[in-house]
Amino acid sequence: MTTERTLLMVKPDGVRRNLVGLIIARIEQKGVVISNMRMFCMDDAFARTFYAEHDGRDFFPALLSYMTSGPVVALQVESPNAVAIVRTSIGATRPEDRLPGTIRADFSTQLTENVVHASASPTDAERELALVFGDSCTTLGSIHT
Ligand code: CMP
Repeated sequence: MTTERTLLMVKPDGVRRNLVGLIIARIEQKGVVISNMRMFCMDDAFARTFYAEHDGRDFFPALLSYMTSGPVVALQVESPNAVAIVRTSIGATRPEDRLPGTIRADFSTQLTENVVHASASPTDAERELALVFGDSCTTLGSIHT
């Protein structure tokens, strides 16, 4: 299986609640490689682009307000099947569907303020990683070899 990469992002509520270290530790313990990391604040234009697929949904204004409310911490994560592995680790969008042991189940009861984001597909991952990291550090699997 070839290495795949994905985006894991600690959202503003996760940063405010000092959960960054815990979340990074949990994902590292699985054995994936963190190959890039960036803390930054989304402005309105960036958030609209990042979440363009949700434009027009009733929750879109609240999502923009939430995601621009403070810094986020974005991680590029690499492993075989990284997209599915990280998505499974964060848990479902709906609070009642979150399995115990997932990050969202363990740290949030909220629908909007759900602590973390992870890319939904390899195509989404490449789009989101390019938005967040641009051209920096695009080498796959170059760490821990
Ligand atoms: P996420 O699944 O990472 O991406 C879309 C985000 O919009 C979601 O996390 C929540 O933070 C937020 N959101 C708020 N309400 C909804 C909803 N009804 N359905 C999906 N996402 C929602």
